[in-house]
Amino acid sequence: MRQLKVDGKPHDVNVEGDMPLLWWLRDELGKTGPKYGCGIAMCGACTVHVGGRPVRSCSLRVGDVKDDAEITTIAGLDTQAFHAVQAAWIEHQVAQCGYCQPGQIMAAAALLQARLVEGNPPLAEKDFDVTVDHVMSANLCRCGTYTRIRAAIRTAAARLQGQKS
Ligand code: FES
Ligand code: FES
Repeated sequence: MRQLKVDGKPHDVNVEGDMPLLWWLRDELGKTGPKYGCGIAMCGACTVHVGGRPVRSCSLRVGDVKDDAEITTIAGLDTQAFHAVQAAWIEHQVAQCGYCQPGQIMAAAALLQARLVEGNPPLAEKDFDVTVDHVMSANLCRCGTYTRIRAAIRTAAARLQGQKS
């Protein structure tokens, strides 16, 4: 039987390949971090990482996930270097109702992973806000936590950059 690794552990895939990844994660594995918002890849509430990249799990079929791709939900994020993102979120008290927040954190973690860990130049101060707003604008928050999200990303980025040097 096919298996996929989720949050560091292999899981049997015993569903049809056209099931959305979000359904499999939530209904079959009990991973309730990723949320159902729009179901059409427009809100980002369902964001998880596949192979280290942020994806909309409501719109990716289980059958289209590569066998060797690691899937990470917010439940597995604290096993990675991006505990800093979650710590910054708490410090800035970002969440209000909380519904969008797992997706927001996964998007932010992927942004910082790409910019700070994979050898790319860090976010320059002069375009920090523009870059963060551009990337994070794909994740919607009905409670309007955008200002705190940006502040938390700034804190996490500073810490991760400090850890690198
Ligand atoms: S539920 Fe997937 S993007 Fe909205
Ligand atoms: S915190 Fe409520 S939707 Fe974002």
